[in-house]
Amino acid sequence: MNIKEEFENYLISTLPKVESFHPFFEESLSYMLKAKAKRFRPQLLLNIVNAYEPLLLKNSFKVAAAIEYLHTYSLIHDDLPAMDNANLRRGLETLHKKYDETTAILAGDALNTHSFYLIATSSFSNDVKIEIIKELSLNGGIYGMVLGQACDCYFENTLLDIEKLKFLHIHKTAKLIAATLKIGAIIVGLDEKTKERFYRFGIDLGLLFQIQDDLIDALVDEKVANKTTHNDENKNSFVNLLGVDGAISEADRLANKIEIEYKNFDENFKSAMKPILDKYLYRHKIKSEG
Ligand code: IPE
Ligand code: IPE
Ligand code: MG
Ligand code: MG
Ligand code: MG
Repeated sequence: MNIKEEFENYLISTLPKVESFHPFFEESLSYMLKAKAKRFRPQLLLNIVNAYEPLLLKNSFKVAAAIEYLHTYSLIHDDLPAMDNANLRRGLETLHKKYDETTAILAGDALNTHSFYLIATSSFSNDVKIEIIKELSLNGGIYGMVLGQACDCYFENTLLDIEKLKFLHIHKTAKLIAATLKIGAIIVGLDEKTKERFYRFGIDLGLLFQIQDDLIDALVDEKVANKTTHNDENKNSFVNLLGVDGAISEADRLANKIEIEYKNFDENFKSAMKPILDKYLYRHKIKSEG
């Protein structure tokens, strides 16, 4: 079994159990976690740990799950009528369609909070756990994903310039991806300079990931993407600002930059990143999800 499959089994076998008289509270928490997803962020984290300190791999599953919980919460809220108003996510009806908006808001809140519980109860030292919590809250919250989402929604129908567009996308997507790589470095005990290098690499990778996501929205049908697409018409997406060809050129430029940066890392980092880069670096050329 490879790491991704092992993680999938871990995630499914540790879904939150809640005893209550609520008819579907427990089920609503698991609904989107169980659905088919790339697990891009867990793969980044676990591949780093496996490359540098394989003995810590098993203990890192809980932290990888925590990041996936936080990411999944961000998607559940992103799909709400007040945000992107989407009907399909991870091949399923969005959570507010399956249940209702109240349930989707609360399931998102719950997964967000619970991600920090998972880290706090993982088996790492208190110092490591606090560092992980700091990175995840910093990059997933008001200085990261939430700020990016706020800008994304507030500036719908208002065209931003390219610098502001990058700010938006770096915050909403790249910072969580960068934090994930840095958390890998924290777990395996790398020095500050290396942690920052991982983080910077993650910002470029995350920005590329979001440009590709914008291309998917414009070019891929929802049946193939497994989520609502053609939904960014009013957004500051790379496609809306630069056109499809311009967005592809920007993605190519970033992919080349990432390839060059990648070559300067040590062998452990390269072995961790290679399968992920092979699969995702030129994803915009393939134009399909998976
Ligand atoms: C979608 O994230 C939202 C973005 C940040 C681009 P993913 O593309 O990782 O979605 P899942 O987790 O596979 O559903
Ligand atoms: C969402 O970006 C990024 C998040 C932080 C959730 P999008 O709105 O482009 O993500 P999709 O396309 O709905 O997956
Ligand atoms: Mg959105
Ligand atoms: Mg969306
Ligand atoms: Mg999108």
